[in-house]
Amino acid sequence: MKRIVLTLLACFSLLGARADEGMWLPALIGDRIKDMREKGFKLSAEDIYSINKASMKDAVVLFDGGCTGEYVSENGLLLTNHHCGYDAIQQLSSVENDYLTNGFWAKSQQEELPVPGLNVMRLVRMEDVTERLAAGEKAEDIVAEAKSEGYAANIQQMYYGNQQFLFVYEVFEDVRLVAAPPSSIGKFGGDTDNWIWPRHTGDFSIFRVYADENNRPAKYSAENRPYRPARHFEISTKGVKEGDFTMIYGFPGNTQEYVISDAVEYVAEVSDPMKIALRTERLNIISEAQSKSVEVRIKYAAKHANIANAWKKWQGEVLGIKRLGTVEKKRAYERDFEAWAKGKPEYENLLDSMRAAYDNVKDWYYMGELYSETGRTILLGQLAKLNSAEQPRWDVIEGIYGDYDVDVERELTRCVLKGFERYCLAGWFPATLQAEIEKYGGTIDAYVDYLYENSPSVSLQKAKAATREELLADPAHKLREAFVFEKKMYRNISNVPEIEQWYRTYMKALREWDTERAFYPDANLTLRVAYGSVAGYEYADGEYHHPVTTLEGIMEKDNPEIYDYNIPQVLRDIYASKDYGRWGVMVGGRYTVPVCLLATNHTTGGNSGSPIINGRGQLIGINFDRTWRSTMSDIEFDPTICRNISVDIRYVLFVIDKVGGASYLIEEMDLK
Ligand code: ARG
Ligand code: ASP
Repeated sequence: MKRIVLTLLACFSLLGARADEGMWLPALIGDRIKDMREKGFKLSAEDIYSINKASMKDAVVLFDGGCTGEYVSENGLLLTNHHCGYDAIQQLSSVENDYLTNGFWAKSQQEELPVPGLNVMRLVRMEDVTERLAAGEKAEDIVAEAKSEGYAANIQQMYYGNQQFLFVYEVFEDVRLVAAPPSSIGKFGGDTDNWIWPRHTGDFSIFRVYADENNRPAKYSAENRPYRPARHFEISTKGVKEGDFTMIYGFPGNTQEYVISDAVEYVAEVSDPMKIALRTERLNIISEAQSKSVEVRIKYAAKHANIANAWKKWQGEVLGIKRLGTVEKKRAYERDFEAWAKGKPEYENLLDSMRAAYDNVKDWYYMGELYSETGRTILLGQLAKLNSAEQPRWDVIEGIYGDYDVDVERELTRCVLKGFERYCLAGWFPATLQAEIEKYGGTIDAYVDYLYENSPSVSLQKAKAATREELLADPAHKLREAFVFEKKMYRNISNVPEIEQWYRTYMKALREWDTERAFYPDANLTLRVAYGSVAGYEYADGEYHHPVTTLEGIMEKDNPEIYDYNIPQVLRDIYASKDYGRWGVMVGGRYTVPVCLLATNHTTGGNSGSPIINGRGQLIGINFDRTWRSTMSDIEFDPTICRNISVDIRYVLFVIDKVGGASYLIEEMDLK
């Protein structure tokens, strides 16, 4: 008992007055509303979520299955991040109309561009169906009944299945691109600044959702009209200051706040370091090649960004977990739990069972992760498969070769096979791969050279010139199959229901035992509310990071020689003339434009594009990132250091107005 008290005290002193941890279910926000109001929220729980009247939730959507977006006009105008709209913008771009590079500004609704395949989902309602399920109703029936209303529906587990919620959505498929800044603004800072503060990225893009004449979802049609959301956000142009209340409303993807110490130790000591090291090698190869050729730089830009994103995040995660002593803290917590569980048959041996279950799967899980970071990344094997199909999908295949350089791929293959060998557990190296290596020279180097000299899949020309027989005899098939057919290589821990089962009991026990703790279900891409305040933080001893950046910082970074920092000339001109129009404000004694802001809201991947809202429910920015040192918040949230990064809505408006010359879009919005 004593230790519990001590641990709790330690936590409280750390948390200070503000505990900003948590991703709350909107339907249950009533439990938090008192706390929120004490911290500066002026509205009610019903304003956040209601099934009886329009509420804020009607203004928030799941964007493209993995990001968040928000309505800012009664005509379905939707904001999200540039990096969330990236695929759509790229898909619509061509050499003649390179919207990714130059930006895009539809001058009227007629000029808005439909994006095939893109959808947004609005939550209609959520309902706790735990009791209905316990009473014997079938999940399929509950879902089918909800769907029959013309909606999409699914049941999601909370607290590892201790609670189940039905989610009913409207799915809109006619979504059109309205505007995007040039990448030199929307992606300013690139991978260099990714996960970094101070930040100066104008990470936004604009879409419009269309519906049928009854305002209901419909497939694309020229007849469709702008969707009229039940609710959209007003925009505050007044700005915010340190300490002001902020709230994030969005779709966080995945957190593991309740995993046991063994799992955290695995992440910090084994999994993250392995993945980071392997990615460092791949990134070095790509960066090196990119520095020598503009063509390679362009071809590998998106791949580099993808590999680098999690790579940097994991580095921050490891540092954060070590700095917080998460493993030791969890061990102490678990010892206290076990003391409490003694004599309670349901819980007494729970942690031992969980540890044993982890032990059972850990090699398989590890090898699965290793395979994802190595074998699965080898393009040649995938191309061999696509090329040799009975009816090859040349459109898809050409797309892949379009971003492919054979010399880079050869080095990447060499690197990942060596990495695989180095990190492979003794006895787990696939026999088929071993046999191939032996057959072709006995070393990975010789084998890779053989592959790239003999595979017809090394280039589009060769693949197209080859006969089906030659494509079927491609030696790269064996490389892919060596991994695929070694079943144990890719068995995933999520296929091990035993662990989930134990966690269900553990979670139930924790909530009985630790009555002081404010529990919230792990993120699972369902709609959540997080709240906190605008805040800087002590980055290093004596080095305080202020929560607001401005145009001055963009100009300081501006450098035509450095790809990530080469801003458009129009921005330089605006800066030179100080022609900021109504977006200019005084910050720190200088007339400038605010760009990004930091806050303490608990967010994760999926929260990109989320509205960041002030105490009156008005939009003050668009969330797009966290600082890398705070990414351990997926496992343990530390209010002293965990910060989310948003683009200030005033910078978004400034870019729309002054760079895009699209002030007619602003007219549609409700500026306060
Ligand atoms: N780090 C942000 C998030 O995880 C933004 C990623 C996109 N930007 C980039 N430079 N890769 O998704
Ligand atoms: N950048 C992330 C996203 O795309 C957000 C985060 O991880 O903080 O959702």
